[in-house]
Amino acid sequence: MSNLEINNIIDQHLTPHSMNADFCKRVYSTDPSIYSQRLRKIGFVNKERVLDAGSGFGQWSLALSELNKQVASLEYLEARVNVSKDIFTLLNKENIEVRQGSIENLKYDDNCFDAIFCYSVIYLTDWKKTLSEFYRVLKKGGVVYICNNGIGIALYNLLFNRNPSKDFNQRLYAFRNLVRHFSFSKIFPMASVIVFPSKMKRELARLGFENIIIDGDGQIQIDKEANSNVTQFYKHKFLGLTNVYEVIAYK
Ligand SMILES: C[S@@+](CC[C@H](N)C(=O)[O-])C[C@H]1O[C@@H](n2cnc3c(N)ncnc32)[C@H](O)[C@@H]1O
Repeated sequence: MSNLEINNIIDQHLTPHSMNADFCKRVYSTDPSIYSQRLRKIGFVNKERVLDAGSGFGQWSLALSELNKQVASLEYLEARVNVSKDIFTLLNKENIEVRQGSIENLKYDDNCFDAIFCYSVIYLTDWKKTLSEFYRVLKKGGVVYICNNGIGIALYNLLFNRNPSKDFNQRLYAFRNLVRHFSFSKIFPMASVIVFPSKMKRELARLGFENIIIDGDGQIQIDKEANSNVTQFYKHKFLGLTNVYEVIAYK
């Protein structure tokens, strides 16, 4: 794919140097094989129908579409949906269906997906509601993958202000998340929810998910034949606290 054409699409839809534009350019300048190697490791291949839940600018949807038959790419923000649509059209991707909507309230039938992929999104939602929706739309025997933030990443962002942009201050956002977390209230509804892995595991089990595995970002290996040496986007721990973790569970 041509970076120039992709950058033109990004510039058409997004304000230059905004958080959205910076994030989108970052993901599309990443080697696409990094995403497919990650997917192979967790066994997200040869599935009939996969949901990319909270697909952002669609880079994981693209990788999923190379390895599986059909991909439903669902994203909340219209600008991100529009960028994804134009990039998929540019690349002649006919097996990705893009929709705008919320993962808390999925407009899909019960038992219709073989797999659900949800990277760095669930903490922005009513996570228990989202998990119950995942359970509903997943077929029996289907698999869900979730990558989620722990408390370590909020502390890291507070200290190091990771990837700041003109319109987004990661440090301030992390501060709000931590205040919200420790105040046990919804003082800052726009901030993200910190969910400890043990709590996530309990909720998944309560909903009926089985064989739940939790480990650091990029660490879970389902396909033993796949390359185990994949790119980790985030460290598992920061100052001994859970930073970013991934989850695999089966219905
Ligand atoms: C950190 S980005 C991750 C995007 C993508 N999964 C990735 O790995 O690049 C979080 C995304 O979740 C989307 N999002 C937030 N709440 C959502 C919801 N309720 N339903 C669907 N998407 C949502 C945001 O708009 C944003 O694009």
